Amino acid sequence: MSGHATPIPMTAHKSPPLRGTAHIPGDKSVSHRSLIFGALCVGETKISGLLEGQDVLDTARAMSAFGADVTDHGAGNWSVHGVGVGGFAEPEDIINCGNAGTGVRLIMGAMSTTPITATFTGDGSLRSRPMGRITKPLQGFGAISYGRSNGHLPLTMVGAGNALGVTFSSPHPSAQIKSAVLLAGLNAIGETTLIESTLTRDHTERMLRGFGADIETIETSAGFETTLLGQPELIAQNISVPRDPSSAAFPVCAALIVEGSEIVVPNISLNPTRIGLFTTLIEMGADIKYENQRIEGGEPVADLHIRASALSGIEVPPDRAPTMIDEYPILSVVAAFATGKTIMRGIKELRVKECDRIDAMARGLEAMGVSIEEGDDYLIVQGQNGDVMGGGTAQTHLDHRIAMSFLCMGLATIKPINIDDGGAIATSFPTFEQLMSDLNAQIERSDV
Ligand code: S3P
Repeated sequence: MSGHATPIPMTAHKSPPLRGTAHIPGDKSVSHRSLIFGALCVGETKISGLLEGQDVLDTARAMSAFGADVTDHGAGNWSVHGVGVGGFAEPEDIINCGNAGTGVRLIMGAMSTTPITATFTGDGSLRSRPMGRITKPLQGFGAISYGRSNGHLPLTMVGAGNALGVTFSSPHPSAQIKSAVLLAGLNAIGETTLIESTLTRDHTERMLRGFGADIETIETSAGFETTLLGQPELIAQNISVPRDPSSAAFPVCAALIVEGSEIVVPNISLNPTRIGLFTTLIEMGADIKYENQRIEGGEPVADLHIRASALSGIEVPPDRAPTMIDEYPILSVVAAFATGKTIMRGIKELRVKECDRIDAMARGLEAMGVSIEEGDDYLIVQGQNGDVMGGGTAQTHLDHRIAMSFLCMGLATIKPINIDDGGAIATSFPTFEQLMSDLNAQIERSDV
């Protein structure tokens, strides 16, 4: 389980041009879903390219606790013998989801319409994140939960028997809420409909369709309505997990800001609900080419070719936020090197991620000599036209993306950048240090 006891302070130094090929690990969202959906099938789901980050390993362990037979065959190859929709067994012990909001929220949804009881907890970051946004819609199915104040973990959920499908309009643009409700709907009688005003990442819909569920999304005046017919028999699949565009974001952005860099990042998912960052960077003037575009496992994929670029600040359209929600920390780093202001609005959801990411980026950027303006749902970064001082220490608050963002920043600042703790990087990108070092990045653990 994640939640390392000893902090791992790290330092990034101004680096020579980044060069080479960066092989990114599997997509975190698809990896969690492969294990959970595999556990809900009858038969054996084979998964290749699974992200073996701590978040996903915690989900694998959780699926075993709910009765699935999960096996690690090495080198990213896993298999899951599922228990079928409605077949989850009651776990004997507390389920610890570590740092993973996606893991805990999707699993709570998946068990909430089976009459079993489970208790969930996580690390300090996960225990501080809101769960009411999940438990409230699950109440509509008859599931009862007992958590700490404001629904924080640890939380015990008593799943409903004979649940009926619901219609729920999500108040937040969140794929985790959408997925929790749809997974609850899997074992409910009749139809479950989830309405969202903007389309969030659609891996649950695409993958459940692949597993044989009757699920469709239509665009209406209210936004996007996804309807699922309950109690399907899900059919085991072979899944090849695409590479994670959210992890690719770090070497891509580092190559843009480190002078003279040129790198290739192969096999990246270009799922339209995930690539807002690349679109934004290209609008800022980034030299990013999509090469060898193709379809793999139902997802559009390309090799990215990146060259260091002079960038101009822009206003990011707020309705693009769901397609790049995890990428604002690294975008705000890139923005610091651009000319002019980069304005990021409509990003309130960042306040409830692994940490309050608006606050963490604002404080960290200030510590590196960058001027910012911050509000409840916006962050504006004043670009320094290439010359960013650095020299400070960023607090990472158990947040992998804050840690990687400031390490990438330090590769191009005048003075080195320290982070207080890089331990959380292993939750999503366990090969980050090696991969960056292979590209020439000068990142070291400060305590060795
Ligand atoms: C995810 C959804 C997003 C994202 C998270 C992964 C998913 O969270 O930030 O990293 O796999 O469904 P929200 O649904 O809270 O926006």
